[in-house]
Amino acid sequence: MSRTVIEVRDLCKHFVLHQQGGTRIDALDSINFTVRAGECVALYGPSGAGKSTLLKALYGNYLPTSGKIIVHCPQGAVDIASADPRTVSMLRRTCISYVSQFLRVIPRVSTMDIVAEPLLSAGVRAKTAYERASALLARLNLPPRLWNLAPATFSGGEQQRVNIARGFIRPTPILLLDEPTASLDAMNRKVVVELIREACANGCAVVGIFHDDDTREKVATSLVHINERHDAELKSA
Ligand SMILES: Nc1ncnc2c1ncn2[C@@H]1O[C@H](COP(=O)(O)OP(=O)(O)OP(=O)(O)O)[C@@H](O)[C@H]1O
Ligand SMILES: [Mg+2]
Repeated sequence: MSRTVIEVRDLCKHFVLHQQGGTRIDALDSINFTVRAGECVALYGPSGAGKSTLLKALYGNYLPTSGKIIVHCPQGAVDIASADPRTVSMLRRTCISYVSQFLRVIPRVSTMDIVAEPLLSAGVRAKTAYERASALLARLNLPPRLWNLAPATFSGGEQQRVNIARGFIRPTPILLLDEPTASLDAMNRKVVVELIREACANGCAVVGIFHDDDTREKVATSLVHINERHDAELKSA
């Protein structure tokens, strides 16, 4: 059996809306699951159940209220739930890739530079980084006439493909995907399914949210149900 890469233990996240009378939202309540190398765990549940919150906690964007998120990376085991900001940024540089639902558009930075950046900042030489960026953008059917433009004016699906190319360009032990196919047509959904399967075949541990049943069924090796009462249980896909 392959090695454990992510262990989520009794994870809770409560939001307190201080500007709105101190209203408390229990977004995650005692979530438990593990992800092994080569697995793709799909977070499954209704809108507002806490799926994106869980993914953001795995990326260190949200500090959990309690519980542990142990990631086993080449540097050793780290609890992201209690790691300091320097450790979180080290993990992001070396170990965890994250495809957010929407591309954070940086004005005047070209598509090629956005996609190549994770490789360039990891020390890969520019020629190799831009070759890999071109290959991925071509595979995702983004027309070459767009490659040197900043994606601010791109369509939703074009921006999403830029975001996916950026997320997949650098192989990492952990890959987090928040609805990567939400704005894509069938042809590009198929490409994303292939990219996810290839990442898993290379030993990546993937945690994803997939809005369409077809994509989820094609890539998920197991489901973590997050229901409206925010209980989670691990089931076989
Ligand atoms: N930063 C925040 N501050 C306060 N409440 C938040 C914050 N982020 C999320 N929430 C709340 O936590 C709950 C879960 O939100 P989340 O975005 O995780 O849901 P989701 O399962 O991803 O839903 P969807 O399928 O619609 O994307 C919601 O009630 C949301 O309002
Ligand atoms: Mg969400």
